[in-house]
Amino acid sequence: MDWGLQNRMARFIKSATGHTVMLAADHGYFMGPTRRLEDPRSTLEPLLPYADAIAVTRGVLRHSIPATSDVPIVLRVSGGVTVLKEDLSDEAITTSMEEALRLNVSAVALSVFVGAPHEHDSLVSLAELVDEGEALGMPVMAITAVGKELEKRDARYLSLACRVSAELGAHMVKTYYCENFEKVVEGCPVPLVVAGGPKLDTDRSVLELCAGAIEKGAIGVDMGRNIWQSDHPVAMIKAIRAIVHEKATVREALQTLTASKKTSGPAASLPS
Ligand code: 5RP
Repeated sequence: MDWGLQNRMARFIKSATGHTVMLAADHGYFMGPTRRLEDPRSTLEPLLPYADAIAVTRGVLRHSIPATSDVPIVLRVSGGVTVLKEDLSDEAITTSMEEALRLNVSAVALSVFVGAPHEHDSLVSLAELVDEGEALGMPVMAITAVGKELEKRDARYLSLACRVSAELGAHMVKTYYCENFEKVVEGCPVPLVVAGGPKLDTDRSVLELCAGAIEKGAIGVDMGRNIWQSDHPVAMIKAIRAIVHEKATVREALQTLTASKKTSGPAASLPS
């Protein structure tokens, strides 16, 4: 790996632990104004000090993240379809590598849709992005998107999707946590982070997901809704950090969460 590319990855994969807590806030690119991300600036501002990276589109970056911020950016560069369409796999590259460089981001990310109607296009986009990224020192993260088919999130499917992404050159992969997640990790030669998926019912479930993923070999999380849709987003991200960076158990992280809820208060704005 070239120095520049390594250096970019080291901005958000912390050398002290080899782990990362990435905050995902790119949902609007196909879901529109997602609950509690209606105004990204006010949602994200209190969380930035606790995020090792923030995953956004160029629109949210320009409008909602101060250019003076030193938080590393993972820029979503794929899109072109919305939740109004049945087939969410009809994506293409929507942001150029030149723009990614101009925005001084630390990595670019695109979704790959293994097994979906536009599988081929998304995999070719990944390979082309990796060629550009290798030439310019820009890491590429593949996101193993599952569209509306949540039931596909089993270890067999995710192992295939992650391995294919790594074989095509992705420098890291974001995927979903699942039963037998260690099988997904075993088959993937590049670092893996996990998404959180839709908001879970309890704080404990969120922390168990994080702890399970780390224990089974993920290097971290790239999580959105389970943080910023929480009634106490700052307390939640602090508890997740305790698991990811400090090897806290779920019990210890719940204690961190309870203590932080008292000091950090609720989310800035809490629409129902
Ligand atoms: C959307 C994404 C999201 O960033 C990803 O799903 C992570 O967010 P969440 O934890 O809310 O699932 O890639 O395609």
